[in-house]
Amino acid sequence: MRETRLTPDRLVLPQFVVEGDDRSEPIEAMPGRSRLSIDRTVAECEKAMAMGVRSFALFPAIDASLKSPGGEEGLAPNNLLCRAVRAIKEAFPESCVITDVALDPYSSDGHDGLVAGGVVLNDETVDLLARMAVLHAESGADMVAPSDMMDGRVGAIREALDAAGATDVAVLSYTAKYASAFYGPFREALDSAPVDSPDVPRDKCTYQMDPANAREASIEAMLDAEEGADILMVKPALPYLDVIHRLRGETDLPIAAYHVSGEYAMVKAAAERGWLDERACMSEMLTAIARAGADVIFTYAALDYASWWHDSRT
Ligand code: PBG
Repeated sequence: MRETRLTPDRLVLPQFVVEGDDRSEPIEAMPGRSRLSIDRTVAECEKAMAMGVRSFALFPAIDASLKSPGGEEGLAPNNLLCRAVRAIKEAFPESCVITDVALDPYSSDGHDGLVAGGVVLNDETVDLLARMAVLHAESGADMVAPSDMMDGRVGAIREALDAAGATDVAVLSYTAKYASAFYGPFREALDSAPVDSPDVPRDKCTYQMDPANAREASIEAMLDAEEGADILMVKPALPYLDVIHRLRGETDLPIAAYHVSGEYAMVKAAAERGWLDERACMSEMLTAIARAGADVIFTYAALDYASWWHDSRT
């Protein structure tokens, strides 16, 4: 009579990639996760594939010397991300590689878009994101995932992909991405927090959504669907189960949810102290996200969950 069964093939494993060989740098606020060089990233994918987790979301940790206000490194044809995508697709053509389309890994301002005069510029950013998406597609990405929350970028990306002949590349839109405090450990992993400067907005509230809003998520979903999104994402996941459920009822498009770094970190931290049972709590959270209506879940606990799932079947 169980209504919800969450299988590992519905999980996406986000991975942080760094330059180098055989390199692994543990991320302090995300126990169990590390920034990995491309060779190690491929090895991690191999482990995941063997457990039935076949989808990967890649985030490059770019050296500070390569960051700039215009985020030019994001458009460099042979950048770290492009090489990582190629390496994974070469090793596992049957995997699904999802790239993040936003400026923050490359921006010395720590924003998802271009900053000028103390504000984030929507339209100039959209143009750049469309070019970034084409570059990712050319590197072999199966799906591009704009996480920047600029208005109109899904349509612009779809059009640019089609014009470049990348008609098979899907757009997974971060549709309802909230200006959340739960992204802290992620920004530590990429060293990508907005910089402290009078010319740079201190937070992402002008483009990410107000945590108090749910109806606005419906508006964003309608716009993204019209612009050609293939999958709609809600992020974070657990504090926004109502939003996942709401969008599930309003659209027939697949819904993804991002169980973000802070959601992962708090279970790990409490478990380290013996205050929570990690396996039980993480499984309960992920099942709840699926029950609310998510078809796909991005989670740093993908490998943990997959191993528990296999374990429970033997
Ligand atoms: C930025 C981006 C963020 C995350 C994914 N893409 C952080 C942000 O918006 O500041 C957060 C993911 C997480 O916390 O796990 N484009």
